[in-house]
Amino acid sequence: MKQGIFAALAIVVGGCVAPEPETGSAAGALAFQQDCASCHGVDGKGAGDFGVQLFQVPPDLTRMAANNGGVFPRDYVMSVIDGYTRADHFSVAMPEFGALDLGPTVIVEEDGVGTPVPAGLLALANYLETIQE
Ligand code: HEC
Repeated sequence: MKQGIFAALAIVVGGCVAPEPETGSAAGALAFQQDCASCHGVDGKGAGDFGVQLFQVPPDLTRMAANNGGVFPRDYVMSVIDGYTRADHFSVAMPEFGALDLGPTVIVEEDGVGTPVPAGLLALANYLETIQE
């Protein structure tokens, strides 16, 4: 009986509070450890157990801002992860994560223009921005 009440309560509470899509760097950090660290290393510096065996060793992801005149190349980063624009020379060793489920779409406003971006992709970019050195 008690269980029934709790189950009903859980349904009511769950139904009322629509979860906000996670776009913060904490969510990105989790996703990074899960999907990226094997190649890029737990610290993003490019020496994951799997990454060191690749024909193209993954680059240090903490240097992307420094390599771009001090500006974190957010659009480039998101397109590389997603796979929607990659240069021809970009290694096929890295999977295109856009083919997987990167979560619900959120609208990112930039210069008054709203762009739909998967929440998981935004979270990863937000996380990577926090580890720039
Ligand atoms: C199977 C190995 C592998 C996995 C898994 C992987 N990557 Fe990569 N990644 C690479 C390789 C190899 C490159 C270098 C490709 C090149 O430059 O040709 C790369 C390049 C990148 C770059 C471009 C860096 C630069 O300086 O240009 C970013 C950003 C990146 N990866 C982010 C991620 C994120 C975020 C994830 C997880 C969602 C991820 N990668 C998962 C192998 C991987």
